Amino acid sequence: MKITWLGHSAVKLEADKTILIDPFFAGPSQNLKANQRQGIDFVAVTHGHGDHIGDAFEICKENNATFIGGAELADEAEKFGLKALGMNIGGKIAVGGVVFNMVFAAHSANIGSPAGFVIEMNGLKVYHAGDTGLTLEMKLIGELFKPDLSLLPIGDTYTMGADMAAIAVDYLQTKKVIPIHYNTFPAINADPNVFKKKVGAKAEVILIAPGDHFELK
Ligand code: NI
Ligand code: MN
Repeated sequence: MKITWLGHSAVKLEADKTILIDPFFAGPSQNLKANQRQGIDFVAVTHGHGDHIGDAFEICKENNATFIGGAELADEAEKFGLKALGMNIGGKIAVGGVVFNMVFAAHSANIGSPAGFVIEMNGLKVYHAGDTGLTLEMKLIGELFKPDLSLLPIGDTYTMGADMAAIAVDYLQTKKVIPIHYNTFPAINADPNVFKKKVGAKAEVILIAPGDHFELK
């Protein structure tokens, strides 16, 4: 599975299907906008904050893609004339060979509840934490799903920072991690190498620049 980090919380997963998560393009990733929003099958949004919804509705419209998100966000997407599948924490949706599991996130939202996703595709499980603080539920997510890759926020201020994200890696028992939600704007400036150092030998921390990708096997 090809994993492309598009900056902030925006991540593209490409295997049998192409899934765009939290498609907000800003700061360093703004110039990635045009060529990363084509050929999308699903757009999954973790919660109703602008830096996560981003261009989700427009991208769904352009690609005739299906919107996946919390029930309230999915209702909004439908009002916009989109194909939408709403869900809530604890639930899963199997569609087109992909399974979207919605999991807990400790955060807030303007509409609906914040969440994370565990996405299963081509035999691999990717956990996108959305915006969250460190929470004991991550032990449960680790136990239930054993994610092959975890995408964790490290920017602090609005989410956990490097210290707590390193503890999350422990809780999740995940083998690979890509840090997200940092260096988009000053309030969430963080050095990903500090996070990498704190995780140490517990997991492989993959540091990529916005627009770069990693091949998950
Ligand atoms: Ni948020
Ligand atoms: Mn955010």
